[in-house]
Amino acid sequence: MSGDALAGREVLLVVGGGIAAFKSALVARELQRRGAGVETVLTPAGQRFITGVTFAGITGRAARVDLWDPSYPGELHIALTGRADLVLVAPATADLLARMAHGLGDDLATTCLLAARGPVVVAPAMHPRMWEHPATRANVALLRARGVVVVGPVVGPLASGESGIGRMVEPGEIVDAAARALTPQDLAGCRVVVSAGGTHEAIDPVRFVGNRSSGRMGYAIAIRARDRGADVVLVSGPSALPTPEGVTVERVRSARDMRDAVMAAAGAAQLVVMAAAVADYRPSEVAAEKIKKSDDELVIRMVKNPDILAELGASRHEGGPMLVGFALETSDLVERAREKLVRKGCDLVVANLAADGFDGDDNRVTLVTPGAVTPLAPMSKASVADHILDHFASHRAR
Ligand code: CTP
Repeated sequence: MSGDALAGREVLLVVGGGIAAFKSALVARELQRRGAGVETVLTPAGQRFITGVTFAGITGRAARVDLWDPSYPGELHIALTGRADLVLVAPATADLLARMAHGLGDDLATTCLLAARGPVVVAPAMHPRMWEHPATRANVALLRARGVVVVGPVVGPLASGESGIGRMVEPGEIVDAAARALTPQDLAGCRVVVSAGGTHEAIDPVRFVGNRSSGRMGYAIAIRARDRGADVVLVSGPSALPTPEGVTVERVRSARDMRDAVMAAAGAAQLVVMAAAVADYRPSEVAAEKIKKSDDELVIRMVKNPDILAELGASRHEGGPMLVGFALETSDLVERAREKLVRKGCDLVVANLAADGFDGDDNRVTLVTPGAVTPLAPMSKASVADHILDHFASHRAR
C-alpha cells in the first residue's frame, strides 16, 4: 500500500449552511491537490454563505444545489453518488446532522446522503449550545453508531465572538480524516511501537550531547500505522514535530529513558520499529551544577548506552514482536545493514545513506532482511513507512 489514499478517488463534498462554509473552499482545494476528483453539492443554506462559482473554479466541475436542476436530464443524486468513493460533509450543521440521522431526503444534499454508499465523514460546526443540545448529541451518537466518521468540532473562537466547542476543524485535518476513511484498515487490532527522534544525554543541568535527527521518519511510521488501523505507541525523543492525533505519545529525553519506555510498551506489541537515532554514548557523570568556563580544554568522559534494539533482539521469543531497525551509514550500506541485522537480532533493517534523507520529507532506503535486499526508489517518508508496514502485514498474513 503506497501513495495518498485520495489519489484518483472521487469525493462528494456537501457544504452545509454555516459560516465555516468559507473554509470548505480550502477543503476542496486540498482534496484536489491530493489527487481526488471533487463534486460539490451545496445546501440552499450553504449557498447563502459561499457560492457554487468558488467550488467550480477550484474543482473544474459545476457545483450543484438543486435536486430539480432542469439542465440535468437524469437523477442527479444517483449520478453524483454512483461515482463517489466517499462523502464529506463540511460544515455539517445541527440541522444537516439531524436530517442525516433521521434519513430525510428533501433536497439534493440529503438525497445524496441517502443514496451514497461507502464512507461518510462529517465535520460539524455550530454554536456550543447547539452542539451540546440533547437532540444534537443523540443525532451524532446515532450517526457514529452507523459508522459515520465525525471529525471535530474543536474548542476555539466562534462567529458569535465567544469561545467554546463548536468550531470546525481546519481543512487539512478534515482532508486527513477523509484520506484515513479511504485507507484499508489492514493493521486493525495490531499494537505497533515506534521510537523516533534523537536522544539528549545530559552533561550538566543546561547542556547535553545530541544529534540532528528530526524524528520525521519515525513520526511518519507512527502516523501511517495509525491510518491503517493499528494501535500505536510513539516513543519520541526531543523533536519539534507536532503530536500526532490518535497516537499514544511518550516523550523521553535520554537513551536510558527511551529504553524503559520502549521495553514497557513492547511487551504487548506485534511490531517494534526503532527509528530513533539513539545516542551510543552518554557522559559518564552529569554535573550537578552548570559547568563553569575555566581551562582551555574540557574533557568529557563517555560511557556506552544500552542498545535497545539489541536488547529486544536478544530477548526474542515465539509470538514476540517483529523487530525493525534502521541503519544510517556513510558507506558500505548493504554490508553494514546485514551485519546489524545479525548482531541486533532483528527481522528487517531499513538502511539509508546519511546523504539521502537525514532531514527533509523524502528518503531513499534499502530494505535488508535475512533473505533479500530491496533497494527502493527515492520517495516520501510516508511511502517508506508504508513499505515497512507492508512487509509486516505480509508476514502477519502468513
Ligand atoms: N539503536 C538502539 N539503541 C542504541 C543504538 C541504536 O536501539 N543505543 C538502534 C537504532 O534505533 C537503529 C539501530 O539500532 O534502529 C541501528 O542504529 P545505529 O546507530 O546505526 O547502530 P549502532 O549499533 O550504533 O552501530 P554504529 O556503530 O554504526 O553506530
